[in-house]
Amino acid sequence: MRFDIITVLPGLLESPFAHSILQRAQKKGLTEIVVHNLRDYASNKHKSVDDYPYGGGSGMVMSIEPFARCIEALKAERDYDEVIFMTPDGETLNQSIANHLSGKGNIIILCGHYKGIDQRVRDIYVTREISIGDYVLSGGELPAAILVDSIVRLIPGVLSDETSALSDSFQGELLDAPVYTRPADWRGHKVPDVLLSGHQAKIDEWRDSEALERTRQRRPDLLK
Ligand code: ADE
Repeated sequence: MRFDIITVLPGLLESPFAHSILQRAQKKGLTEIVVHNLRDYASNKHKSVDDYPYGGGSGMVMSIEPFARCIEALKAERDYDEVIFMTPDGETLNQSIANHLSGKGNIIILCGHYKGIDQRVRDIYVTREISIGDYVLSGGELPAAILVDSIVRLIPGVLSDETSALSDSFQGELLDAPVYTRPADWRGHKVPDVLLSGHQAKIDEWRDSEALERTRQRRPDLLK
């Protein structure tokens, strides 16, 4: 699976993909993540990628031409399943969207800045608009990194224990049960006896009931 991310701040996206699971997934050839500097596609001599808004108002608007040139150059190389624009007014990312997108082949992700991007980019090129939550960030780069992370970890072979993504919170519509590791007694705070019992059926039953209880307390909306 390949991601092409278009941004004016490529440096912001270096670190998130250079560690841990995302780095390993790329090394194993399970995913390719390519970051493109939008400025490289600016046609004017100042390499500017934004302009004043028609009708007045504060802030600059990202222009259509650099996005068009970059997207069209990518599309000339291969087919894309989605062109996703990260924006707070998009549909809110959830596990079901991540699951769905993990089955795709090639995805372009656009990161916005300033006051927004020319509506024509959205009308002409964008197939899907995604928000990571009801708050506004300075740009779409961190949301893009979150989206890619949520998708890549679901690609078969990316996680060493294939079942671990399946038992994640949300994957089965319940939050995860609590987890513990050694020591069994830390300053008098003890690990629940059942986890030390070696009785797998009882452990599974305990985990199911804790997951249900945690979901009931924290996210009752998930149980509806
Ligand atoms: N860009 C700025 N804020 C955002 C958000 N909450 N989700 C996606 N993209 C954004």
